[in-house]
Amino acid sequence: MSSIFLLFVFILSLPSVSSTQPLRGTLIDCGAVVDSIINGNKWIPDDKYIWGGTPKILMTAVTEPYLSTVRSFPNNLHQKFCYVVPVFRGGKYMVRTTYFYGGVNGRDSPPVFDQMVDGTFWSVVNTTDDYASGWSSYYEGVFLAQGKTMSVCIGSNTYTESDPFISALEFVLLGDSLYNSTDFGKYGLSLVARHSFGDNGTDILRYPGDPFDRFWEPLGDPATTHTVAGNKNVSVSGFWNLPPQKVFETALATRQAERMELIWPPVLLTFSRYYIALYFAENPDLSPEASRVFDVDINGVAYYKNLNVTSEGVAVLAKSWPLDGATKITFNPAAGSIRGPLINGGEIFKVLDLGGRTLTRDVIALEKLINSTQNTPPDWKGDPCLPRQYSWTGVTCSDGGPRIRVVSLNLTNMGLSGSLPPDISRLTALTGIWLGNNSLSGLIPDFSSLKRLETLHLEDNHFSGEIPSSLGNIQSLSELFLQNNNLTGQIPSNLTTKPGLNLKTSGNHLSSLPLS
Ligand SMILES: *[C@@H]1O[C@H](CO)[C@@H](O)[C@H](O)[C@H]1NC(C)=O
Ligand SMILES: *[C@@H]1O[C@H](CO)[C@@H](O)[C@H](O)[C@H]1NC(C)=O
Ligand SMILES: *[C@@H]1O[C@H](CO)[C@@H](O)[C@H](O)[C@H]1NC(C)=O
Ligand SMILES: *[C@@H]1O[C@H](CO)[C@@H](O)[C@H](O)[C@H]1NC(C)=O
Ligand SMILES: *[C@@H]1O[C@H](CO)[C@@H](O)[C@H](O)[C@H]1NC(C)=O
Ligand SMILES: *[C@@H]1O[C@H](CO)[C@@H](O)[C@H](O)[C@H]1NC(C)=O
Ligand SMILES: *[C@@H]1O[C@H](CO)[C@@H](O)[C@H](O)[C@H]1NC(C)=O
Ligand SMILES: *[C@@H]1O[C@H](CO)[C@@H](O)[C@H](O)[C@H]1NC(C)=O
Ligand SMILES: *[C@@H]1O[C@H](CO)[C@@H](O)[C@H](O)[C@H]1NC(C)=O
Ligand SMILES: *[C@@H]1O[C@H](CO)[C@@H](O)[C@H](O)[C@H]1NC(C)=O
Repeated sequence: MSSIFLLFVFILSLPSVSSTQPLRGTLIDCGAVVDSIINGNKWIPDDKYIWGGTPKILMTAVTEPYLSTVRSFPNNLHQKFCYVVPVFRGGKYMVRTTYFYGGVNGRDSPPVFDQMVDGTFWSVVNTTDDYASGWSSYYEGVFLAQGKTMSVCIGSNTYTESDPFISALEFVLLGDSLYNSTDFGKYGLSLVARHSFGDNGTDILRYPGDPFDRFWEPLGDPATTHTVAGNKNVSVSGFWNLPPQKVFETALATRQAERMELIWPPVLLTFSRYYIALYFAENPDLSPEASRVFDVDINGVAYYKNLNVTSEGVAVLAKSWPLDGATKITFNPAAGSIRGPLINGGEIFKVLDLGGRTLTRDVIALEKLINSTQNTPPDWKGDPCLPRQYSWTGVTCSDGGPRIRVVSLNLTNMGLSGSLPPDISRLTALTGIWLGNNSLSGLIPDFSSLKRLETLHLEDNHFSGEIPSSLGNIQSLSELFLQNNNLTGQIPSNLTTKPGLNLKTSGNHLSSLPLS
């Protein structure tokens, strides 16, 4: 089994560094109107990063200042609303979304909805239980910035009963070595649990204790084990994932050299592959001769054999371990080990297959269209095609292939004004364009590079100038509706004679009528 799933072990001996760096990233207080400094970090309002939605102030008391406002979005099935945030291309980011409903929709129970990162479905946001307990909910993931911006989107699904909302959104740049056994070009990580074991307090360990403000929840004594003092002098700089030093200051252990069992993470898992990192360090105050060596099994499958826990510390990682339902981790002392098992910290993430991306050239062409028109639909942000259920209003896309393409545009009756940019000719997979009954003006651009275009509807707009004769070059074109515009000049002869073309040009200022 362990030959299939890659395992790493690190034994560490690097000197300790203890300087607190400021977080690198963007902390967004959704719905806020002013900046705030919280816990030494600057939070900023969200209006620069989002289009649409309504900022709202909660009427309930909150535990953190950034929970006091939310941005709320219309409950429109499969329409997404995206935050688009500038990032360093190639940077690896901890992305955290926070939700605290606070009764903002006037209903007792919070809405359940979806969240996405770029073209990838991240998870369902279900804050029902947390909210009933008076808590906010957070979701954390690790994703690679594949471009100069990253998007996080909220969308309504069939189970969404009132307007979705968001309280806070954070992007924190992670060090190169963090979680680096994962190929972030193909996968993302979605946090399931991160615990500091043996910490019987209630406070989450976070920045500045954790240099990236990851949340380490305390997990005290689950009855079968007991809480022990750990190691206050572990040098964490040698751990690739840079866990906070404080994680090693407490541990769960057995009293004697006996078996230890943990049901962890404390939730039922859906069948998937998981990234698991477990952290261990011996207490240096104990006599160094006595060894602490044990085997680790997960649901009866050997995870690591003869783990020798020294006071320098050790981490055991699995980048892709299949799990389903409840998870039992068993620690069995090796024969001759004087001490029983011990554990200080653990992280477990679901491995997400990235959903892919729409071809960048198509995305840029659509952005040019947004920039040269007014009234494009509010969901025209983030990836145009992905996730599948959440493609932009009026956009349909190709089914497969390494890069998803835009195959049709239908913005009929949308109240669009402005002009069509020449860049629309770069959407070369288009077979249909429906832009009828808008207020578009300016010239009709050159569409002749759209070799697959069959239908072009520009009727009932304010287009002016001549009908481009280059339209005659599009072999596949079978329907061309130009009626009720402000077009002038003659109808190009190779359009009037084009076999099988359904051409409509009435209601313009053309100098002669089509022959047929
Ligand atoms: C959300 O969570 C609650 C409480 O766990 C559960 O009853 C409900 O079915 C969940 N809703 C959805 C849509 O998953
Ligand atoms: C992860 O980072 C560490 C420390 O920089 C490096 O030694 C190691 O080779 C990296 N591993 C991978 C798989 O890139
Ligand atoms: C919490 O753990 C510490 C050791 O880390 C121990 O001294 C203390 O008694 C524990 N407190 C409780 C309430 O269990
Ligand atoms: C902490 O470890 C360093 C070497 O890693 C050592 O020089 C120092 O004495 C240790 N401090 C304590 C309090 O154990
Ligand atoms: C465990 O590691 C320590 C320190 O590296 C070493 O002295 C000891 O022999 C090891 N014990 C076993 C059983 O491998
Ligand atoms: C669209 O306009 C925005 C704001 O002016 C600009 O930053 C962006 O680069 C433009 N997009 C394209 C594809 O030209
Ligand atoms: C385009 O959108 C309009 C308005 O939503 C709709 O009536 C029409 O059927 C759509 N056309 C196509 C080809 O999907
Ligand atoms: C044209 O679009 C507008 C919305 O912009 C709509 O109110 C109107 O009914 C549409 N006209 C027709 C004939 O569909
Ligand atoms: C249509 O006319 C234009 C300009 O006269 C010409 O460039 C183009 O090759 C013609 N196309 C066809 C299919 O005849
Ligand atoms: C039609 O185009 C002419 C110039 O060709 C312009 O003067 C006029 O304002 C346009 N009318 C409309 C309704 O756009």
